[in-house]
Amino acid sequence: MNVTVFGSGYVGLVTAACLADAGNHVVCIDVDPERVRVLQEGHCPFYEPGVDELLVRNARAGRLRFSTDAALGVAHGELIFIAVGTPPQEDGSADLQYVLQVARSVGEHMSDYRVICTKSTVPVGTGRKVRAALAEVLAARGARIDFDVVSNPEFLKEGAAVADCMRPDRIIVGTDSPRALELMRTLYAPFNRNHDRLMAMDIESAELTKYAANAMLATRISFMNELALLAEKVGADIESVRRGIGSDPRIGFHFLYAGCGYGGSCFPKDVKALQRSGDEVGLPLGVLSAVEAANERQKQLLFARIDAHLGGVAGKTIALWGLAFKPNTDDMREAPSRTLMEAIWAAGGTVRAYDPIAMDATRRLYGERADLVLVDSAEAACDGADALALVTEWKQFRSPDFDLIKTRMRHPAIFDGRNLYDPAQMVRLGFHYQAIGRRA
Ligand code: UGA
Repeated sequence: MNVTVFGSGYVGLVTAACLADAGNHVVCIDVDPERVRVLQEGHCPFYEPGVDELLVRNARAGRLRFSTDAALGVAHGELIFIAVGTPPQEDGSADLQYVLQVARSVGEHMSDYRVICTKSTVPVGTGRKVRAALAEVLAARGARIDFDVVSNPEFLKEGAAVADCMRPDRIIVGTDSPRALELMRTLYAPFNRNHDRLMAMDIESAELTKYAANAMLATRISFMNELALLAEKVGADIESVRRGIGSDPRIGFHFLYAGCGYGGSCFPKDVKALQRSGDEVGLPLGVLSAVEAANERQKQLLFARIDAHLGGVAGKTIALWGLAFKPNTDDMREAPSRTLMEAIWAAGGTVRAYDPIAMDATRRLYGERADLVLVDSAEAACDGADALALVTEWKQFRSPDFDLIKTRMRHPAIFDGRNLYDPAQMVRLGFHYQAIGRRA
């Protein structure tokens, strides 16, 4: 099938590469010429395991091309995906200007039937807006050409994007057109594996499904974080509680870890956007306001604890393990590490940080500053530190040489934002150890 994908960010690029790998001819359009040049050379512009390989393989096979030329993209793909950004506006609602720009551009250049399929995370009602924007341009051209609109949200996780895209749990297709649905079924057939994962529904339900999934997951995390704080107060251990409730299949073990808050480009943005959607129709979503407030508080927690333990961080050095918002990515968007670092700096402390992948991203974000020392190993981060904060649970932080770390730190205190270590063992080793909701 000939497919065009507008937008070569996380979702667009991974989708384009996976669809090409399944045998389709895919053209990926981006407005940024520099990004297109990098992609044409076979490089992924962000860190995501497995994408480079897919780019090279499919470009060589002539199934994947990149361009800035929207007209070429519209001429190429019968199926046109919109996977451009929907950044949050001041009031938290999603900014749809880039999505609607693509719709208009399709309207300007199309000369034959097209299916316009939204993959970006967009509020309920966007499908209707896409249809209206495109129809308006066609009407202005005086062109009578058929088209259909589909909502096909993406559920991939950063760090596991290729696997998620190749082996989806579900394929949500919202449309009112049997013809478009048929095309989508054909396109996704290779991704079904042993049973049909495609769920057909109306456009509005598909759009809401995406927000509902992320908001539900964020709710789980905030609830576990609140329970962890309660566990500390009442002398319980959140790890025991987690195992205890996770064994109920209705609850399940996934996504049940207390920590120093959720981050990334999706949860914070989508929780806010869904709240705005509720506000717009006069239905304030109280649960989500609480989810957001709990997360904000959780992101402040590590600093408050370190500050209290050290009697202030002015003039102190804090070692940081992990900068990315989660392992296996270099994404720093809304990362809890940023809240912590910024609080340390505001209070006059210095950060010595190490992350296996996100060092360049951190450098780009904060530039050179005297109170940020980026070092090239986890041990080096501990040199002369008054406390160690573990913010991102990279695998390599799971069983460090604690004796070595202790000799390198000025003061042996560990603040574990991801509950990686056994509290009793840490105390035996002579550390002041504080995790989230754990009992020593
Ligand atoms: C999330 C969803 O998981 C994807 O399904 C969705 O497609 C994506 O957003 C999106 O909307 O594009 P992602 O942002 O890559 O994916 O990250 P997650 O793996 O979901 O983690 C989000 C945050 O939750 C991280 O900061 C992580 O540390 C935190 N988390 C996760 C916890 O604090 N506890 C947990 O138990 C799990």
